[in-house]
Amino acid sequence: MAKRYYITTPIYYVNSVPHIGTALTTLASDVTARFQRMRGSEVHFLTGTDENAIKVAEAAQAAGKSPQEFVDEVSEEFRRIWGGMNISFDDFIRTTEERHTRVAQEVFKRLQDAGHIYLGDYEGWYDVTAETFYKESELVDGKSPDGNEVRWVKESNYFFRLSAFEERLLKHIEENPDFIIPEVRKNEVVSFIKQGLHDACVTRTNAGWGIPVPGDDSKVIYVWFEALINYISAIGWPDDGYKEYWPADVQWMGKDILVRFHATLWPAMLMGLGVELPKTLVGHGWMLMGKEKISKSKGNVVAPLELAHDLARRSGCAEDVAVDAVRYYMAASMPYEGDETFTSDNFDLMYDVELVNDLSNGIHRVISMLNSFCDGRIPRGTVPASDVLDVRDHIRDVAKAYSNFRLEIASQFVIGVAGLLNQAIDREKPWDLRKNDDPRLADAMYTLAWYVRVLEGLVRPIAPTLADRICGLLRLPETRRWDTIGAENAIPANHRVAKAEAIYPRLGQKKAKEKKQMEQTKVEENVISFEEFTKVKLRIARVLNAERVPNTDKLFRLELVMGEEKRQVVAGIAQEYSAEDLIGRQLVYVSNLQPRKVRGVESQGMILAADGPNGEAILIQPDREAPDGTSVH
Ligand code: MSP
Repeated sequence: MAKRYYITTPIYYVNSVPHIGTALTTLASDVTARFQRMRGSEVHFLTGTDENAIKVAEAAQAAGKSPQEFVDEVSEEFRRIWGGMNISFDDFIRTTEERHTRVAQEVFKRLQDAGHIYLGDYEGWYDVTAETFYKESELVDGKSPDGNEVRWVKESNYFFRLSAFEERLLKHIEENPDFIIPEVRKNEVVSFIKQGLHDACVTRTNAGWGIPVPGDDSKVIYVWFEALINYISAIGWPDDGYKEYWPADVQWMGKDILVRFHATLWPAMLMGLGVELPKTLVGHGWMLMGKEKISKSKGNVVAPLELAHDLARRSGCAEDVAVDAVRYYMAASMPYEGDETFTSDNFDLMYDVELVNDLSNGIHRVISMLNSFCDGRIPRGTVPASDVLDVRDHIRDVAKAYSNFRLEIASQFVIGVAGLLNQAIDREKPWDLRKNDDPRLADAMYTLAWYVRVLEGLVRPIAPTLADRICGLLRLPETRRWDTIGAENAIPANHRVAKAEAIYPRLGQKKAKEKKQMEQTKVEENVISFEEFTKVKLRIARVLNAERVPNTDKLFRLELVMGEEKRQVVAGIAQEYSAEDLIGRQLVYVSNLQPRKVRGVESQGMILAADGPNGEAILIQPDREAPDGTSVH
């Protein structure tokens, strides 16, 4: 049997349930798994729960439950949440399972027999939150470098001779450029190893929870040491069958657990066992809230399914596609080298601009026109060669980004294709062709339907339910194989489509509708105080320059001047205004809005426009010229 494409997530501590920070690693792995399956790989996707930590036993006690009862419940909750997020794992390992404890003990024994583990004395600082030992010199103000409480631990313990692997680790990293990505993380690992590795303490006193050291029941195996073993215990190591999966093709994780654990301890353990190293370790950045990492201990968690549920409630989209909006958001804002900040405004903006305007509206327009101009059928036609070439370029770029674990880039290219679809609609103007009974209508509508089909395939790894919904509109089966995306004859002749349906209704529209209702019923809550109003700083700004944001069909990057000051904003007005219309014009600008990124471009505020009858933007301009920078009240 061909070797499988083996993907792993870290196994999660069961002292809390997933939030959008922890869900990020799992989502990234799921997108990779779905893409590789479409590529024709036999994928094996493993996730699971890390249940033997001291903090788990403490959390159980706090909940008034036995540790086993507690881990059973939380682990089940993880499965439920992953199920809700449509995570397509093939196996779920729990470190309290016999298949794991047996292998963890076997690894310990083999390393001990080979002389890699010895008995010694341990004295040092232990961070229970991160289950990590620190040296005195590593503490910051008496706390761990991450700001967690530490406690002094003194006991005789077993040590793993990590220091003996320095040279081999450095050599492996150097010879295998894809072993650790991104590059910044690799550099961190290399300098960490070069500072000198200390032997790792790999046991703890047995306090009644954990995996006993073989032959010494007074100790349990250090939780990190045995947790790492899950990646091979789940696939049946040491039985030869494990080679069907191992080495793992990609091990996804956040940057916090890469340097000390996955890129040093783990490969050294494998070297000691004589087992091959994984091919690639990806250490992504963090999802922050304000300036802090989202984490249970900081109490700032946002749960992915609640975010989806809330979106469904506010926008009116179905719950299952709301989950895909969250999946899309996570993929599109995947922190690769740096970190990303979560705000609900960013989330809403991404939803309205990318999913509603670019994707859902584009598709809706095509299906509506097929219904009204072509009797609900896709006529036989030909796609212009230039569209085929353009789209194929995009398909290649998306595939490259997915293969290189760059989800944020893949998402941008996918939305870029939605942009091309909208441009094609505006270029073909099917409504004019129809009015003039122009026979070119068949080619035009076939081309547009072909774009929708392409989008369905490209977006599938990130948003499988959304892709199914698109299939429902096209009445076509799902695209299973990546290499069929973009085939020109992908749609049968005179194929009948479904009635049009807006998959993602605009949040803005819903808000506008709600506002209208509120005005009609004169609901008092809608009133704001004068003080509240004055918090919004409005100023007259002049457009110095206007540039289209690449791969979008609605966005302009505007450079504004207000006297001495210059700012830039991203505005969705490209369908109504051209650069020439805009440059030199005075506008009303909200100057104290928190900056946010739109398609990778920082938008420092907002310009005011009215919503036209068809949702088009109508810019607000002063009645006569006022000095640039003048306040507006
Ligand atoms: N149990 C260990 C892993 C053992 S693997 C052999 C662990 N668990 S965890 O639940 O704390 O974290 C799991 C994953 O979530 C890690 O990849 C971690 O980087 C990621 N994240 C946790 N909070 C995060 C953010 N706020 N942002 C991005 N990822 C974060 O560590």
